[in-house]
Amino acid sequence: MFSHAPRSCLVMRSPCCILTRTKTIVLRLSRHALHRRLPHVYSIHCQDLRCFCTDHSQSSKPYYITTPIFYVNASPHIGHVYSAVTADCLHRFKLLQGYNSRFATGTDEHGLKIQQAASNAGKDPLNFCTEVSDSFKHVFQRCGILYTDYIRTTEKRHRQAVEHFWTVLHSKGFIYKGTYEGWYSTPDESFLTPTQVTDKTDSEGRQIKVSTESGHKVEWMKEDNYMFRLSDFRTKLLDWLRLNPNIIQPVNFHHLVLQWLEDDIPDLSVSRQKSRLQWGISVPGDPEQIIYVWLDALVNYLTVVGYPQNYSQWWTAVHHVVGKDILKFHAIYWPAFLLAAGLPLPKTIFVHSHWTVEGKKMSKSLGNVINPLDAMEKFTVDGLRYFLLRQGVPDSDCDYYDDKVIKMCNSELADTLGGLLNRCTAPSLNPTQVYPQFCNSCFPKEPSEGLCGKAVSEDYRMVEAVSALPVLVEQHFENLHIYKALEAISTCVRMTNAFVQRHAPWKLDRNNPGHQQWLDTILHVSLECLRMYGILLQPMVPDLADRILSRLGVMPEERSWDSLNFLMKCEGRDCGLEGRALGPDLGVLFNRLERSQGKGRTPKMATQHKSKS
Ligand code: MSP
Repeated sequence: MFSHAPRSCLVMRSPCCILTRTKTIVLRLSRHALHRRLPHVYSIHCQDLRCFCTDHSQSSKPYYITTPIFYVNASPHIGHVYSAVTADCLHRFKLLQGYNSRFATGTDEHGLKIQQAASNAGKDPLNFCTEVSDSFKHVFQRCGILYTDYIRTTEKRHRQAVEHFWTVLHSKGFIYKGTYEGWYSTPDESFLTPTQVTDKTDSEGRQIKVSTESGHKVEWMKEDNYMFRLSDFRTKLLDWLRLNPNIIQPVNFHHLVLQWLEDDIPDLSVSRQKSRLQWGISVPGDPEQIIYVWLDALVNYLTVVGYPQNYSQWWTAVHHVVGKDILKFHAIYWPAFLLAAGLPLPKTIFVHSHWTVEGKKMSKSLGNVINPLDAMEKFTVDGLRYFLLRQGVPDSDCDYYDDKVIKMCNSELADTLGGLLNRCTAPSLNPTQVYPQFCNSCFPKEPSEGLCGKAVSEDYRMVEAVSALPVLVEQHFENLHIYKALEAISTCVRMTNAFVQRHAPWKLDRNNPGHQQWLDTILHVSLECLRMYGILLQPMVPDLADRILSRLGVMPEERSWDSLNFLMKCEGRDCGLEGRALGPDLGVLFNRLERSQGKGRTPKMATQHKSKS
């Protein structure tokens, strides 16, 4: 993700980040280790960091992230929300790092399956699309999806973009009139080769053909329509992916696409006869043909940024989030269309796997579709977001069930993180309610320094781990391993809890000056850890992170990537927060969730949980 970032952009980050990008050898070193091994490099940086941090040259660097646009034949479910939350999290992460990030989502409203769904509902197609599109918007707003653009493929601006795109492909000779004969899956709106189809007996005992990948029924079709010269692009696509091994993340999907490209790829039918499909965009100059819905849908990414007018600034910074089921369309068809049109290719295609529910594929007929609004009602927005991102392993399918959400949120958000915040800001330990003072002689920079140091080796290990977190989190984001970023944060939260437990500040006597200094130092270190966790958690659980940072008294302008300057006092530098009043909200960070009593019953919110302090 950063391979194309200009060097000048990199100097804004925390010390570890800068050094890790300029010297591979330092990649795995934390700030403490850096300081020990490369004191000259580190001290040069420390002196200059402040002026670098105020240089916002990077703020104009564009980043453009998209979700797939969602079919409006069914209501939003947890799988759709997962795609959207993943993209939202990447968008917020880039904003955190100072990028000028743009984030598009929307709905895919043309095609046979939408035409059939509207007709089954007895509704006019556009009204039908508007209703469902609004329900997606509603769910996304409720879920904190901070999109900057919402696109519907039935909009005029989109029709114009698609018509233009088609005309370019046609005028360059990549579209020709031909005949398609083969299998078609309407639920997937996809053409399939004989090897992608298999036999099955349906519920009424009939022999049918289904797509091997999706399991959806396929039909044989023979039609005169327009074909795209997809086969011309096989070698170019292979070269592109081989030369850019980081394009498709996580990397197992990159290998999968390379494998697909080992075989010949046939030309692609890119239109349907109007007699079969009316709900779509007509082929320019041939009103008897409707443009294939996937070609129509993919162009949405260009429409959003103003294609065919001034789109290039954003287009060169485009990154797509897609589910594994639509990888072929994004990693083969889309780049081939773009190459044909002479446009730059996406920078990254982030791929995620699917959610099953209690071990089964989510489906209306099984009645196990998880409604995201219900889930947010039960578990809160942060609870649901945290669960999806923490449990969602993009490389493989994940299983959803309510008890798992409850257990994870209670253990990691309510008990460990909430408990830590509650403990370290409790008026019983911190009666003046200010950010406590750090005492260098209690916690010297090096374990061996100072005679009255009270910090032990585990404390230094914790400091090292927390210092290294930003680099680690950033690396995990680059591979779409957000769950690993959360795991790393969670491990550090546990280390900080152990630190507090080890030194039991509640046993120290505030009236004894020696004790008091050490007590404040323990609290200072703990709040510094919490400040780091709060800043880093903003993209994943924005409201919860805001509550942490507000309780610590951290101002909005002190919550960016540049502010990940951990435990400056230990380095002999100033900490702007020391002595500042803590935020007034003494409420619990995350209420413990209770298991539902019976199937279908909403779990009650538990009474407020307070950890012992
Ligand atoms: N309309 C196309 C995308 C066109 S993009 C140019 C489409 N729509 S969809 O509504 O079927 O899917 C949208 C996204 O939701 C996809 O990324 C898909 O993988 C995701 N999910 C749908 N079901 C899912 C799960 N059960 N689990 C996780 N994500 C899933 O495809």
